[in-house]
Amino acid sequence: MNFIITTPLYYVNDKPHLGSVYTTIICDSIARYKRLRGEKVLFITGVDEHGLKIQRTALSNGVLPKEHCDEISNIFKQNWLKWNISFNKFLRTTSKDHEKVVHEFYNKVKKSNDIYMGEQKGWYCVGCEEFKDNPDNSPSQKCPIHKKNLEWKNETNLFFRLSKYQKVIEELIQDPEFIEPKERRNEIINFVSKGLKDFSISRTNLNWGIKVPDHLNHTFYVWFDALLGYISAISSGDKNHSLAESINSGWPANLHIIGKDILRFHAIYWPAMLISAGLKPPKKIIGHGFLTREGQKMGKSLGNVLDPEILFQKYGEESVRWYLLKDIILGSDGDFQDRRFVDIINNDLANTIGNLLNRTSSMSRKWFNNKTPSIGEKNNGEISELANISIKNYLTYFDKYKIDKASNEILNFAINVNLYLNKKEPWSLIKDDNNIYEVKLIIYNVLEATRIIGTLLKPILPQFSVKILTQLGENDINNRNWDENLRWGLLLEANDLPKPTPIVDKLDYE
Ligand code: MSP
Repeated sequence: MNFIITTPLYYVNDKPHLGSVYTTIICDSIARYKRLRGEKVLFITGVDEHGLKIQRTALSNGVLPKEHCDEISNIFKQNWLKWNISFNKFLRTTSKDHEKVVHEFYNKVKKSNDIYMGEQKGWYCVGCEEFKDNPDNSPSQKCPIHKKNLEWKNETNLFFRLSKYQKVIEELIQDPEFIEPKERRNEIINFVSKGLKDFSISRTNLNWGIKVPDHLNHTFYVWFDALLGYISAISSGDKNHSLAESINSGWPANLHIIGKDILRFHAIYWPAMLISAGLKPPKKIIGHGFLTREGQKMGKSLGNVLDPEILFQKYGEESVRWYLLKDIILGSDGDFQDRRFVDIINNDLANTIGNLLNRTSSMSRKWFNNKTPSIGEKNNGEISELANISIKNYLTYFDKYKIDKASNEILNFAINVNLYLNKKEPWSLIKDDNNIYEVKLIIYNVLEATRIIGTLLKPILPQFSVKILTQLGENDINNRNWDENLRWGLLLEANDLPKPTPIVDKLDYE
């Protein structure tokens, strides 16, 4: 059975920003972790290309929507490849495959008698592509997220009978596993308790969308269309692509990772739509927090938007991953601070982990003929015990998607190993020949600990992990089972150690 994990399907109104990079990196590390644990993973990402927002963006750029979407979709896909994102499917909502699934799905919902024609009146935010709850009637009413004027809409649309699913949704969200974190789940419980209202799923004044089959002057509401991308992606590109084929290939999704701003769509509308069509809701939704910059909301008007491309050029993808995954609690808001970024990379990666490997490998090469020491009997001392505790905690955290805690578990282990090395002072002991066995043991323990650190880093920093393990002479790492690699004592004795190089360069403040 597949483990299906998804990012949101990103709007193509602009190139990827730090928010979309953040969501995608979280998914990537979970996908990698699950694969390492032996699961068959289907990691879905893609783009949301229809709707008024995209149509207007294309118009303002003086190009046709299709041309605009082709260009930005390609930028997204290339960007994820560049960031070493291990996605399996990239879904475009303008693809024929997707359109087919939307039509099939619509017919199912219609058969459940959940579609009707009605009057849609209200204030709409084009940025959110959403009608806003109870704003006052003033035309200067602004969207709290986009800070732009809402637009008054009054048209005849097709509606989905969401109100019919009040009880079903109430029950679904009672499960504490369904929505995380807890605070976000409480927001949803609170919203649902006020009573669910039917919502419109078509538009008549919009061309840029998928046509509703039995009402050709209507196009589907962009959210109704986009959410279905999670299903159409599963069998997209296959010969027998269809709704049924996607469902048979592993639906429901195990995990939707999204930002907190789009939780209602995922935790309420989407499950109700699925249940109406006779399908299962996703198993879990995690709503991550928002990133701010130096304590301020990022925005074009504030001129403080952090371009992920610049971060990529300056620091490389793995340093950015470490900051976002280790320093920001998954589920809480996080702040991006330049100074903190530099400190974290220097302290954690360059010093605590990088330098531990570098200095121990240098000692081993110097004292043991460019090789790891040979110690004979394996020792089960304090470091192996610490390693086993850290591994256990790390796995427990990762299984609960607490990636920040799992990352910190690696870091704390590395800090303790540094303390052990400093306490033991092998550089003093080596001066007396009688201490040779003890020195070998210390060096072996520390090198073995760095091998465990390198292995644990694999889903979080895949390339650093390889760099560390290759420097330990662990060339066959990819042929061994990852779980197996976490067993203490696997570092080969009297094995060649290549000349160490820093795994990451130290950064300077600018
Ligand atoms: N197209 C919809 C999703 C449809 S899913 C079927 C959409 N796209 S988006 O491109 O606007 O948002 C992408 C993701 O970026 C969302 O998860 C959103 O929460 C996230 N972020 C946007 N700004 C953000 C920050 N400043 N910080 C962190 N993530 C934020 O919504």
